[in-house]
Order: sequence, then C-alpha cells, then structure tokens
Amino acid sequence: MSVSGKKILIAVSGGIAAYKIHFLIRDFVKKGADVQVIMTPDAEQFVTKLSLSTLSKKPVYSDFYGENGTWNSHVELALWADVMVVAPCTANTLSKMVHGMCDNLVIATYMSAKCPVLIAPAMDLDMYVHPSTKKNLELAESFGHTIIPAESGELASGLIGQGRMAEPSTIYNVVEKYFQEELHSNNFEGKTFLITAGPTYEAIDPVRFIGNHSSGKMGFSLAEEAAKRGAKVILISGPSAQTIIDPNVDVYRVTSAKEMLAKVFEFYDKIDIGIASAAVADYAPKEVAKEKIKKNDENLTIELVKNPDILKTMGEKKKHQFLVGFALETQNEEENAKGKLAKKNLDMIVLNSLRDEGAGFKNDTNKIKIFTKTEKVEFDLKSKDDVARDILNFVESQLLK
Ligand SMILES: Cc1cc2nc3c(=O)[nH]c(=O)nc-3n(C[C@H](O)[C@H](O)[C@H](O)COP(=O)(O)O)c2cc1C
Repeated sequence: MSVSGKKILIAVSGGIAAYKIHFLIRDFVKKGADVQVIMTPDAEQFVTKLSLSTLSKKPVYSDFYGENGTWNSHVELALWADVMVVAPCTANTLSKMVHGMCDNLVIATYMSAKCPVLIAPAMDLDMYVHPSTKKNLELAESFGHTIIPAESGELASGLIGQGRMAEPSTIYNVVEKYFQEELHSNNFEGKTFLITAGPTYEAIDPVRFIGNHSSGKMGFSLAEEAAKRGAKVILISGPSAQTIIDPNVDVYRVTSAKEMLAKVFEFYDKIDIGIASAAVADYAPKEVAKEKIKKNDENLTIELVKNPDILKTMGEKKKHQFLVGFALETQNEEENAKGKLAKKNLDMIVLNSLRDEGAGFKNDTNKIKIFTKTEKVEFDLKSKDDVARDILNFVESQLLK
C-alpha cells in the first residue's frame, strides 16, 4: 500500500526541524504522491523555496500575493489536498491554527481545508511542555486533527527531552496508514464475521482447570478491526481479560471447548467469514470431580479425552463461508501450518511461531506468515492491532479474487 497518486499538502513553519522536511517530500514524491509545499514567511529563514520546489517539483508558496498582481489561492490549495501535513508545526503556528488567527497563507489554507490535518509539532523542551502548547495540542485533537507527537532526544538548543519533530519516516508511515485505513474503511459492510478468541478452560474439579496462556488479544484486535471496517462481528471468547465496546461486536463469553463449539454452531450458517484465533484445549478431563479433589494421594492421574476440533468441524460444514485458521507451532512450522490448511478445509491460515521473539501468546506484538493453497506472505513483527489490519487486508484481497 502506498501514497501513490495522493495529493499531499505540506505546510512548513519556522522551526529548526524544517530541514528534515526535505526527506519527507523526497519519500512522498518517490512513491508517486503529488506534493504541494506551502510555508510561513518565517520558515523561509530556515529552508529555501528553491530546495523545496526542486524536491516537490512544484512552485512553493509563502504569501497570498503572487507575481504580477496574481493571488496564491489558499482556497484552491486547501480543496486540492487529500491530506494536509503541518510539519514542523511551531508553537506559534499551532496557536494560530487553534485560535483562528489567520494572518498568513498557511493558516488561511488550513482554515479552508476540508481534508484531514496531521500536525507534527517541533519545539524546544520547555516550549513543548508549556501549558499553552499542551492546551493547544488538545484543542487541535478535539478538532479531529491527528497529532504526530514530538520525539525525545537532543534538541537544537542542546537540551535533552521531548520536542524533536517526529522523524520523516514516522510522519510518512502515519500518512500512509491514514490512506490505508481510508481505502479499507467500510469494505466489510454487509458481511458477518465470526471470530473465536482466547483460551478455553477445561474443568478438573469445581476450582481447577486445564488451560493455556492465550490472552485473547489477537482475536479482540481482529474483532475491533473488522467492526471498524463496517462488518457485523460475533466474537466468541474463552476466559480473557480483554474487553471491547463497539456496537458492531456482539461478545459471547464461554469457558470450555464444548461450549465454544456449541456457540460457534449457533451462528455458523449465517456468517460470511470465520476466523478461529482461539487457542482451544485439545484435551479435557474425562470426568469432572463434583467436589474439590483433596490432596490425599501421592500421585494423581487425570484421564484426558480429546476435545471436539472446532476448526475442523467448521471446515467440514463449510458452504459459502471463507475460513481462516491460526497455527501456533514450535517445530516444522510451515509444514504443519500447510498441513492444517488442507486437512481442515481452510481458505487461509495464519502461522505464528513461538520461536519468534515477541510473537504468539500474551505479547502485545505478533509476527505472522499467511498461507493459502497457492500463496505465502511473511510480515514483520508488529502490534497485534497492526497484525489484525494485515490479516483483514489479506482476507479482503482473497475475497476480491
Ligand atoms: C533558530 C531558531 C529556531 C527556532 N526553532 C523553533 C522551533 O523548533 N519551534 C518553535 O515553535 N519555534 C521555533 N522558533 C521560533 C519561531 O521561529 C517563531 O515563533 C516564529 O514566529 C514562528 O513563525 P511561524 O510559526 O509563522 O513559522 C525558532 C526561532 C529561531 C530563531
């Protein structure tokens, strides 16, 4: 996914970080974006129009008044843009933006813009933490703008702390993510997802169980992302501390594999996409003791019997549903995942390996590989929210085939 063909308006104000903006412009242009730069009069003290226009391949404006009595139309510039990025955003420009002090081309353009506005503040340490800056950033956020927070490190003044403008690569990623989300928003409207999440607990007696370390995070992130994209989501979760508040997600809490199976098949016929991310226990005690087992004996043997294979049953009963399974493997990962894909009649399988640091259970991050019958795609280590986005992008690409 890239910014190719997107119209990006970059507004530069008068901070020392303005020199970094060249890298951002270069990267956008390289990826095929249409970049228009405007700047405050003060920004001209820091960077030249010549370098900015060379990189953006367009004239750069800093004034309302053009040559020979012409007008640099802030209205046209504002309406042209798909997104406006104010970077670096000085304390002064931020204050003018949120209070409507419209005394230069950047502010007039900003106030005429209908597109999303992203703000990358850059200030010296004490300016950044000043109550007025904090208040103005809060106000900007309340207007619906995205703040790309300043980073910590050595500042131009020699002080060390927060205030450095986010790196151009960070700003680039935020812009790219915005276009990605825009592209995928509401693309699952009219579709119903069934997602399983979390572990299952298999009772030994009234107080003990056999379980596993699954936190449910991956399944909840998937449910949230699918709902964000317009889907109706039925989330069936084993015991998990995760919560979700989204009117498009109906959460059903279950405990054991048998309960999960029963709940899945209450809905299975009506769903379009099934994602089985729950870590279902393979075995359960044959008998559940009615009373708490006392520690009288030196050894205790619990006989285990195989639990129903929920995903396999979903595969067997598959009609129109698109089915996604998860595989968590510790050895022969790819082979096992591909075997599961075929054996369980899945359309796609997501493999996470416990060998990868930061992947799998409990972590907030995950590193996955996706397999279909014909494809294999590898992803970097990412937050589970970003992984959920990758998985749903992939599901979408498969459904469009
Ligand atoms: C060398 C130098 C560096 C500056 N760096 C910053 C900065 O990083 N952030 C900031 O808010 N102001 C900074 N300022 C102050 C702004 O340039 C000043 O507030 C100016 O009026 C901003 O105008 P503008 O917001 O219209 O571009 C700096 C000033 C100088 C002289």
